[in-house]
Amino acid sequence: MELNDVASDLKQVLFTEEQIHEKIAELCRRIEADYADEPPLLVGVLKGAVMVMADLSRELKLDAPQDWMAVSSYGSGTKSSGVVRILKDLDADLTGRKVLIVEDIIDSGLTLSWLLGNLRSRGAASVEVCALLRKPDAAKIEIDVRYLGFDIPDEFVVGYGLDYAERYRNLRGVGILAPHVYS
Ligand code: XMP
Ligand code: MG
Repeated sequence: MELNDVASDLKQVLFTEEQIHEKIAELCRRIEADYADEPPLLVGVLKGAVMVMADLSRELKLDAPQDWMAVSSYGSGTKSSGVVRILKDLDADLTGRKVLIVEDIIDSGLTLSWLLGNLRSRGAASVEVCALLRKPDAAKIEIDVRYLGFDIPDEFVVGYGLDYAERYRNLRGVGILAPHVYS
């Protein structure tokens, strides 16, 4: 689905498919250089990271395996609390592995902070983060993101894997959701 197909549901277009692909290609060149010795295990966080993982992993000129986790963050409404429950765990053993977490968006940072601690405690050789989007004004905890796509305003965004009530995940670009959709 194109940004145009849901134009009236968006307050603002942030990134087109082309801009996202260009950015992902940039990130991939850096990842290739940094992991020339040994491809990382790409760990995607369901469901939002599906599109980033699909495009990033295919753009990458490294034979990097994928694994997936599903977590749910307890919280009121749309805000996460940092108390995280694992809904689907990884299949892989992380002992001695170089792990690269692939995320769609870092909002408060609480979910990712918990995830970093969790994966590091499993004996990974290294755990780094690649995130397409980050809301710096929403940060409750500082996270060292090695590979970042774009910083965005503290507004609710949809598309490219990101949903509102499971809608808009299949949107090719990313936009700020118009208030009339959720109010
Ligand atoms: P925290 O606050 O723990 O939350 O960094 C990260 C997770 O919350 C979801 N999230 C969003 N989903 N549009 C969305 O569709 C947004 O603007 C948004 N902000 C946070 C997302 O699942 C992310 O992994
Ligand atoms: Mg997510």
